[in-house]
Amino acid sequence: MNKQFPENFLWGASSSAFQIEGGWEEDGKGKTVADFNSFKRSHLQADSKVASDFYHRYKEDIALMKEMGLKIYRFSISWARIIPKGDGDINQKGIDFYNNVIDCMLEHGIIPFITLYHFDLPYALVEKYNGWESRECAFAFERYAKVCFEAFGDRVKYWQVHNEQNLMIRVDERMNISEEDPLKADRMRAQMDYHMFLAHALAVKACHAIVTDGKIGPAVSSTCTYAHSNKPEDVWAAKMNDWFKTNYCLDIHFTGEYPGYYMRYLKERNIVPVMEEGDKEILKGAKMDYIALNYYRTLCARYLPADEEHPVGSRICRTNEVDFDQYGYFRDEKNPNLTASEYGAQIDPMGLRIVLNEYYQRYRLPLIVTENGLGTADVLTEDKKVHDDYRIEYLRGHIEACALAIEDGVELMGYSPWSVMDLLSSHQGFKKRYGFIYVNRDDHDLKGLERIKKDSYYWYKNVIKTNGEVL
Ligand code: BG6
Repeated sequence: MNKQFPENFLWGASSSAFQIEGGWEEDGKGKTVADFNSFKRSHLQADSKVASDFYHRYKEDIALMKEMGLKIYRFSISWARIIPKGDGDINQKGIDFYNNVIDCMLEHGIIPFITLYHFDLPYALVEKYNGWESRECAFAFERYAKVCFEAFGDRVKYWQVHNEQNLMIRVDERMNISEEDPLKADRMRAQMDYHMFLAHALAVKACHAIVTDGKIGPAVSSTCTYAHSNKPEDVWAAKMNDWFKTNYCLDIHFTGEYPGYYMRYLKERNIVPVMEEGDKEILKGAKMDYIALNYYRTLCARYLPADEEHPVGSRICRTNEVDFDQYGYFRDEKNPNLTASEYGAQIDPMGLRIVLNEYYQRYRLPLIVTENGLGTADVLTEDKKVHDDYRIEYLRGHIEACALAIEDGVELMGYSPWSVMDLLSSHQGFKKRYGFIYVNRDDHDLKGLERIKKDSYYWYKNVIKTNGEVL
């Protein structure tokens, strides 16, 4: 195979600030929710203090990206590096750092593809008003976004607002939700979600006003759920899982309105967020230019009727076997037709072709894959090689799925897998690696942080060089 990738296809690789940068309090950076969460696990695994040390080694790392042939590098800006308190003074040293990174990339012919917010809300905003629970947070974010557009928009044309709002909102730790009462927690969650939608819309508008030729969109965690059987209830469970986890979010970005099934859920639980007059216009008026999606695996849902033991909306349902916390009646099953990674992700390239087609048919907007990859332990041999054929196989299958989706008529702008180099996994430190470049460190031993090209690095380099022909 194949010749299906357009000439200007954006081959890339991805990362995020708290997972790669380190330098967590250097040059005035404020602490973030992501730092705070990672420190809670410092005794067990690596935290964000050093991570991959990109903050000090970005020149070497960008040179390696160039050698790999990347057309884009998708990374995030740390809000707390730019505005340490979230809504206070601007930190010029933070702006200088990203200016240096962007300029270095451009000198190497790599297009910057920037996410504004990847799980790392400035902690000062949590202390001030519990972060996204307050409407103020949406306006603090708007200001931060404007600062970025003004500082970098002359050179950066591709922007993403929030990374995986739709997933983040369901992870208490990322949102800083510690409320024990499930109903109160879900009310808070719904309000936070709403404020993030508002922030998204404000940032989209600001980008269009400030950045000449700027393109901006969300980066969603895509969901593809199969029914466990052909029982109508199972099919319904699978659909609802996709609607509640991802589609509602894209629909709100697209139409500015909550879809009916979602509003019904909010009303039934009496947790409809407070919305102010005039918000509708803001939400409706912000048109995204493309959709970025992150894709790792598929799910398989079995209907589980609500009962006394599993009442609707109950936290009881948030156990290992139930992967849905809003209606509380979807059991996530193993799919016998798929193999899973050692961390349980069911590997499924066909699912990527499905979501690409689905999102393109629903919204008719260009798409880009901004995360996709295999997280696993790698072995560094004595002669300093990493033979990660399992990763090559994973990526090959998913790149083929992209080619097939393009043949299906999907307008796919690019493919930017996770991750450019080994970095801090959100829950498994440095044990679980995704990168093309090995970073020689363990969870608690920094060693030399040496960069070592894995077999997948050379393989991907060829994929890019031949525009997908050597698959
Ligand atoms: C994505 C996140 O959902 O999953 C990344 O955007 C994250 O930040 C990636 O690293 C992989 O998850 P994990 O838990 O294996 O690091």
